[in-house]
Amino acid sequence: MTDETRAARPPWPGSTDGTGAGGIGAAEIGAGGIGAAEIGARLSDVGYLADRHICTILQLAGQLGKPVLVEGPAGTGKTELAKAMALMLPARLIRLQCYEGLNEAKALYEWNYSKQVLRIMAEGSDGGLGAGEGGGEWRELEAGIFGDDFLLPRPLLNAIRSPEPVVLLIDEVDRLDVEAEALLLEVLSDYQISIPEIGTVRGTQRPVVFLTCNRSRDLSEALRRRCLYLHIDYPPAEREREIVRRRVPGITEHLAGQIAAAVAALRQLGLAEPPSVSATLQWARTLLDLGAQDLDAGLMAESLSELLSSRADIDLARAHLKF
Ligand SMILES: Nc1ncnc2c1ncn2[C@@H]1O[C@H](COP(=O)(O)OP(=O)(O)OP(=O)(O)O)[C@@H](O)[C@H]1O
Ligand SMILES: [Mg+2]
Repeated sequence: MTDETRAARPPWPGSTDGTGAGGIGAAEIGAGGIGAAEIGARLSDVGYLADRHICTILQLAGQLGKPVLVEGPAGTGKTELAKAMALMLPARLIRLQCYEGLNEAKALYEWNYSKQVLRIMAEGSDGGLGAGEGGGEWRELEAGIFGDDFLLPRPLLNAIRSPEPVVLLIDEVDRLDVEAEALLLEVLSDYQISIPEIGTVRGTQRPVVFLTCNRSRDLSEALRRRCLYLHIDYPPAEREREIVRRRVPGITEHLAGQIAAAVAALRQLGLAEPPSVSATLQWARTLLDLGAQDLDAGLMAESLSELLSSRADIDLARAHLKF
């Protein structure tokens, strides 16, 4: 499945007309125009709380013009980072959701066969498709039907050809077959796509590229070499408390702090599936809906299934945690 969305303009400091006039461009990061601390502040403005390491990698990626390969446990903000960057710049977000069986036609481009056939039939019925001298008419038609009008661009080609700034998110790249992974290499190293019938399509600007990976399999060395590596782990309790406060309107600092501390403790237990940040947020919303002011042992025990998804993990948590 592929999906292409336009990132909404953020309420950017200094920008009153919603045109992103107060925003920055990818080039500005690349030129070293803004440093890691500034990137962190601007990401925070759009609701993403990044630590110093994340910001430094983003700055470096801008300076080197390299894609960022983001790895880490499920639900730790890998996909959200790309979305937040698109909001921050601001830039159009183009997303390629990877899955087993994704091929060139879904990732790069495909030819609009039915339109091509209609064109050939129309030419034929006009009597215009005679063999002509040396098949010249046919060659002319062939050149026509393998032109831009008959091309269906998919996310990678859209990202390369976009006249406006782009954040390209290649999400869950480890779901691709090894052969499909090779499709990405030309785009990631040269920001270009070779189309045999047309030639090489080069971008006018470099997209900011993020690849996310859950390590369901090892990625090829060729792919890794082209990227800067960023590992995003579970956030420390203070940052998770702030994420909860940002993302769950109406929650008190006290309850957000208790929730973050409880989740941090759960992650120390060696559970098969430790709770993700998304699960923390879901749990916080439930507790707020229940009118909770304080996280006590009873409430914790009752609502553990919001956080944990297996019987064994829930039993382990019940046995260890005391509030
Ligand atoms: N640093 C952060 N700042 C703000 N929100 C965050 C942060 N990290 C995670 N979140 C929240 O957690 C949710 C889950 O993040 P996201 O979907 O990006 O995780 P993921 O790492 O891509 O997970 P998966 O591996 O399952 O795809 C986001 O919708 C966001 O609300
Ligand atoms: Mg994700």
